[in-house]
Amino acid sequence: MTADFYQIPQKIFPTFDLGDVILRQQEDSDVEDFFKYYTDEEVSKFILCDIPKTIEDGRRELHYWRGVFYQNDGAYFAIADKEANRMIGSIGITSYNSYQSRIELSYDLAKEYWRRGISNRAIEQIVKYTFESWNVNRIEASVSTHNIPSKNLLLKCGFTLEGMLRQHRYHRGVFVDVYFFSLLKEDYLKRQDLHKSFI
Ligand SMILES: CC(C)(COP(=O)(O)OP(=O)(O)OC[C@H]1O[C@@H](n2cnc3c(N)ncnc32)[C@H](O)[C@@H]1OP(=O)(O)O)[C@@H](O)C(=O)NCCC(=O)NCCS
Repeated sequence: MTADFYQIPQKIFPTFDLGDVILRQQEDSDVEDFFKYYTDEEVSKFILCDIPKTIEDGRRELHYWRGVFYQNDGAYFAIADKEANRMIGSIGITSYNSYQSRIELSYDLAKEYWRRGISNRAIEQIVKYTFESWNVNRIEASVSTHNIPSKNLLLKCGFTLEGMLRQHRYHRGVFVDVYFFSLLKEDYLKRQDLHKSFI
């Protein structure tokens, strides 16, 4: 028996072409673009996580998010401007609970690309990928109650607002109220049927 027999098949990170942008794996070479847009105060204002303070923190963060896929915990993509192949945002699914068939969605985008429908299209693509490639019945998302753009975006993408969790997240020294959203596989399939009936 050769050593090859024991080799684990390599996981291939998917790529999606959305026209003007692509969703692809985050690379070390993205770190400067990532750091620049992500530390912009308007972008990070409602992101309920620690924001990197240095490029080195940024590198560690990208490394962490890339690892999620290889640990079978989800898939975290760079949103890249297709022409320049520069990272302008990120979107992904994480915290995969295989027993309960659910996963969490999150996203962010550089300010100069806002309001072009990029996040809307990216979410539609990631939702499709999630329900078609993962054993997932429910995609969840949580949003600060002050983050109106993100709340509206999820509603536009067919997510249901399930309720508000009071002071659910401790962020920058205060407890933050959070809206909790979900999209079930059955919601997704219904939307697919509806879409088909309009074609
Ligand atoms: C939230 C965010 C991702 C939206 O991205 P975007 O690409 O600009 O959104 P889209 O252009 O795809 O907009 C889709 C829908 O979202 C809603 N929306 C987006 N920006 C909005 C705004 N400034 N005010 C109100 N609604 C907004 C609208 O319903 C919009 O649909 P419409 O254009 O038909 O009105 C972006 O503002 C962002 O990166 N914010 C900072 C990071 C962040 O908050 N991430 C989420 C953490 S939970």
